[in-house]
Amino acid sequence: MDLNNTFSAAGFNEKMHQGLDRSYYTDLYSKFSEFHQNEYNIFFHLLTTPLGLLGLMSLIRVITNSSTIGMAMASFYVLTLVAVEQLPLSVFFGTTALVFVIMMSSRALKLNMISSFVCIALGYGLQDLAHIITGEKTYDSTYALSGELDVSSLSTWATFFLDHCYYLLPLCVDLVIPETFIRIDPPAGMQNLYTHAYALIPLFMWTLGSYCLDSKNGFCFFPGVHYSGRVVQCQLCTDDKESRKKDLKTVRDWAIAHCPSKQTSSHWWFSDLQGSVRQAFENCAKSSIISKMMREQFSERHYCVDIVEGMNEIYVSGPAREEECFNSDQIFYSKHVDGPLGFVPFVSTYRCIVGMDKNLAISTHFPMKPLSQNATEGEVIGFDFNREIHYITKDPSKEAESDEFRVVLKLHYCMYPRVLRPLGWMMHGASVLYNKTFRALFLKTIKPHSYYEHFLSWNVIFTTSLFNYLETFVGERNMVYFILAASVSYITGNNMMFLYMTSFIHYFRYISTYYYRSETDYGSFKRDVLLFKTIALTQLGLVYLFPEFMATYVYKCDFMPFTFDAVSVLMIASGYVISILATHALGLDRTYFGSELGFCSYERTNQFPYGFIPHPMIVSQVWALLGIAKAPHVNHLLPYVIPTHIALYMTHMLQEQFDIYQKPKISDEKKLL
Ligand SMILES: [Fe+2]
Repeated sequence: MDLNNTFSAAGFNEKMHQGLDRSYYTDLYSKFSEFHQNEYNIFFHLLTTPLGLLGLMSLIRVITNSSTIGMAMASFYVLTLVAVEQLPLSVFFGTTALVFVIMMSSRALKLNMISSFVCIALGYGLQDLAHIITGEKTYDSTYALSGELDVSSLSTWATFFLDHCYYLLPLCVDLVIPETFIRIDPPAGMQNLYTHAYALIPLFMWTLGSYCLDSKNGFCFFPGVHYSGRVVQCQLCTDDKESRKKDLKTVRDWAIAHCPSKQTSSHWWFSDLQGSVRQAFENCAKSSIISKMMREQFSERHYCVDIVEGMNEIYVSGPAREEECFNSDQIFYSKHVDGPLGFVPFVSTYRCIVGMDKNLAISTHFPMKPLSQNATEGEVIGFDFNREIHYITKDPSKEAESDEFRVVLKLHYCMYPRVLRPLGWMMHGASVLYNKTFRALFLKTIKPHSYYEHFLSWNVIFTTSLFNYLETFVGERNMVYFILAASVSYITGNNMMFLYMTSFIHYFRYISTYYYRSETDYGSFKRDVLLFKTIALTQLGLVYLFPEFMATYVYKCDFMPFTFDAVSVLMIASGYVISILATHALGLDRTYFGSELGFCSYERTNQFPYGFIPHPMIVSQVWALLGIAKAPHVNHLLPYVIPTHIALYMTHMLQEQFDIYQKPKISDEKKLL
């Protein structure tokens, strides 16, 4: 058979131009499988193809100095596969799993450039060797007229070669998936993702960059992944030569000598300082202790750390003035996020509060971490200027024991991936501009007199509260994820996509957080799992109660009318009542792994349903989910959703039952001691 005639580049292009690429993958697979009949050859391909890709991923990692770029490319590759028509779902998921294993191996093995090239060469060479040993011709030979590289018709050869490379992984996976396996086509409209890639790629990168913000969250690519807390601490007054005690005293004495106000807060920019005080301030900003602290969160290898001089200042706290009308000083005493630039992906601006005196009265709180700290002499607390909720409180009973003024340095640093320097420079400039503008507004509203100043002051407080509520209950990064999910739904014209992308997140977060445990951002963990669980159950509830409306106007598919099923209702009610009782018995924090993560002590309870039902929290909710699935109209509309909910819940239950989590390393345990 002349394969060049039956499957030529011209034929391929013709199909593409006619838009008849629906069977392109299946055509390709049937040709590819003709050359891969021998089971040893297939086995070798399953080893050599991932080996070559491991080399490629490692090479990208070496060149970019980061796993993130490779991870983004691999994720995008998987995303493009959903657009391949007639690619069976089993092959899609198999390929995704293999890509994931390759990515994780690349991170774990940390191959250098030579080893990466060796892997690529071995992957390619051993594949040809497998063909020679098994006596099967290579698929390459069908589009190269002479040898491996056809220089006589380079562009045609390159088209086929790239095509071959692109599909190689799914083709190999397809070879081992039995023909009898259910070959479910992807949901309708998935192909549109490919044609709207110009919009989806930036959106996807935006979402990725909203989670993947530092080295500790380097693999945090969606809300289902364990998220590490981002508040950092260190001490500048030490016993060695790195100590900045003298410098802090110089700056503090200078601030006190300038008679700070007792009625309002006071500020001096770094640029206003001269001589020895300027040098002392600079010594603190460039301290190796702070640099080391930052480098633990933002590795030297992947991130640039710049001092943001334009934002640095000396600050003296003012009183709360709660009894007065709206004024800017109230912001510090109410929960707030300092800056509005948290939506900028991959980059962070950190504010470091450096304590300079004996301060027992004023505490800074980070409810998401959670952490409360006084920032006494030399103590440094660093946090994301645009993302971390915080506020201060004053304990008047301790004012007598404290210094009269609470003077702090506010130092700022901008961190950005080395491969995204321009974005980092933009963030640096934008942060300075915002801070200067906000300071002007702040000073105008610190003691408002006119109606206009009162209005501005009210606006400052209102906007601050709005950001606080958004971050407390939703989270800016989750907002970005919702925008991505809604866009995918819109582009595919399939609202089920939103349901799939938002319904199971909390299980992945339970499993990953229970597994990793260390340095968990506990507030955002509780917020995110509650948020995604609420969204998942709301969608199920709407389908349960209004199947006709949801099928007609939201999911645009056929439906079964609502049928009242008493058993179903009883199962749902009893399941959720037991779940609420279980939460009540344990308390909210222990329900959300508070004792496992070290945020509260372990307490054994025998209060019902504990002691009566094993794993009552999960069992009761699985029972309720079965109750929802029992309703025929739900089962008709969402046949796979509830089994997936139950499978993921059961996976987590097994994880709890067998206590599967990452045990701390001996060195970490010693550190804790
Ligand atoms: Fe603040």
